[in-house]
Amino acid sequence: MFYPEELVEEVRAKNDIVDVIGSYVKLQRKGSNHMGLCPFHNEKSASFSVSSSKQMYHCFGCGVGGNVFTFIMDYENYSFVEALKLLANRVGVNLPEAEYSEEAKKQASIKSRLLEINKEAAKYYYYQLKSERGQAAYKYLKDRALSDDTIKQFGLGYSNKTGDDIYQYLKHLGYDDSILRESGLISFDETKKTYDKFWNRVMFPIMDVNNRVIGFGGRVMGEGSPKYLNSPETKLFDKSRNLFGLNFARVSRKPNMLLCEGYMDVIALHQAGFNNAVASLGTAFTGLQANLLKRYISEVLLTYDSDEAGTKAALRAIPILKEAGLTAKVINMKPYKDPDEFIKALGADEFQKRIDNAQNAFLFEVEVMEREYDLGDPEMKTKFFNEIAKKMLVFSEEIERNIYIEAVATKYMIGFDNLRKLVNRYGAQMIVGQSDTKERSHDNLKQKQKPEDGMKQSQKILLTWLIEDTRIFDKIKGIVDPDDFTEDLYKQVAGMLFEQYFTEHTVIPAKIINRFESKEEQNEVASLFTTTVRGDMTDLERKKAIEETVLRIKKNSLDEQSKKAIEHNDILALQKIIKEQADLQKLHISFNDG
Ligand code: GTP
Ligand code: MN
Repeated sequence: MFYPEELVEEVRAKNDIVDVIGSYVKLQRKGSNHMGLCPFHNEKSASFSVSSSKQMYHCFGCGVGGNVFTFIMDYENYSFVEALKLLANRVGVNLPEAEYSEEAKKQASIKSRLLEINKEAAKYYYYQLKSERGQAAYKYLKDRALSDDTIKQFGLGYSNKTGDDIYQYLKHLGYDDSILRESGLISFDETKKTYDKFWNRVMFPIMDVNNRVIGFGGRVMGEGSPKYLNSPETKLFDKSRNLFGLNFARVSRKPNMLLCEGYMDVIALHQAGFNNAVASLGTAFTGLQANLLKRYISEVLLTYDSDEAGTKAALRAIPILKEAGLTAKVINMKPYKDPDEFIKALGADEFQKRIDNAQNAFLFEVEVMEREYDLGDPEMKTKFFNEIAKKMLVFSEEIERNIYIEAVATKYMIGFDNLRKLVNRYGAQMIVGQSDTKERSHDNLKQKQKPEDGMKQSQKILLTWLIEDTRIFDKIKGIVDPDDFTEDLYKQVAGMLFEQYFTEHTVIPAKIINRFESKEEQNEVASLFTTTVRGDMTDLERKKAIEETVLRIKKNSLDEQSKKAIEHNDILALQKIIKEQADLQKLHISFNDG
């Protein structure tokens, strides 16, 4: 579907960027901008800036930037058209419907057809659960204490006993083998015979954050192996970047989320009122999932099984959560195996108490470590404290480190100073042998980005000034034009800005971003409009700075042109350039009249 530029622009103009981003990120007004914590990288102090006048955002930390469309595309992981639809919907702009001719249907992307198939399958499974054939499955869920509302909310279903039931159903809806092959719902053997992947199982649709079904988990009723079967990865279903229950949890408006192991745990928790529960998809928790959580909350309560496997999984998840900048705590479920069983046995109020008493992740790690040492044996005990001391070095802030030293020292009664000495000794060793610590690699990264060529910087600054004070266009007219920008991208952007100002008589930088397709270009274009210069210039200093910048750009442009003219032996061009260079000496940009 192709949407005309005017329509795209209407949608953009009606969606105020501060409102839109403000509904995802907490923003604070600071001067003419709004600042907040960047949702695209981990940071502790706000470097994410949203400008109401420019209708753009830019992160001074990680460099992302763009307009309201690129924000939704990045944040929601949407295509441009999806972002356009969301924003159009938000402000009540009607987008023309696509016409579904046979041909258009064929052309529709595989992804959207797979979404359709999953939706149809989920509806079918749900219908089966409620039908005669699904009685045993329905009873199974009821016996597990799920209410009809919960079954409906999570869209639970049942896959029939027949080996090709869903296949026949989907065929009947008109989907052909080639697309069904990609759905993950059907297996094809060498003779092209088909088998439903899921049969005689209770079905758990897995939804993405936008409530779209992207895969399924299926559980045997009662004993049987495998207990759970999950959809294979497909064009839609990426197990490492989705979480079960996140579509509901993300709107729970709670400051944290409960991270569980199983689908049933999530469902039982939601039913008990803990609507901030999520689970990974039958695979280990990943950094991508941590980043996903980071978009919504800053604290994760690990609600893993209390057995050894659950403890191990928690120990693996903790560093991943911390790496993403999330605070991690661990909920003690004992003597029950998992939250589902806990709630069934003790109820929601008791579970809330466990939430309130969730243990700090570091102290949990220490406690687990303790099990490996016989603290009655002085040698083992010494080793244990040495291990703790080493672990303490993850806290780079002295205050924080001391708080943990204090907590551990008190718990094991070894005295604050003793433990602190031990920690400092490891700290000293670390500094001597420091090679690739975080801090350093971070610095390196910054340095690599920094030595930006001064001319590029001047051109960027001029572009920012132009949109901040459009009177400058008239001042530099006839001196600098888009061709004087030496970077290709800058030249294009300058061309568009000049056209807006001199032809359309309004300068709308946010509109320009839509003209670039790649994310990299969009980010770079946004950065051209948000270049910072010293903020505390007087009017006079500012005028002088603009004049110098303009002259520098022009001079550089003439130098480049003369190089080319010499290369091509173009004497005429060279003479013209030399004259312009001479004129430049005498040039002054007058700001006196305005
Ligand atoms: P219930 O027995 O139904 O209460 O299961 P549970 O929610 O307690 O799940 P469990 O702790 O046994 O497993 C946690 C998660 O691991 C499940 O939600 C599945 O995603 C996954 N899982 C469990 N068993 C299997 C299996 O046999 N195969 C696969 N692929 N995944 C499994
Ligand atoms: Mn369970």
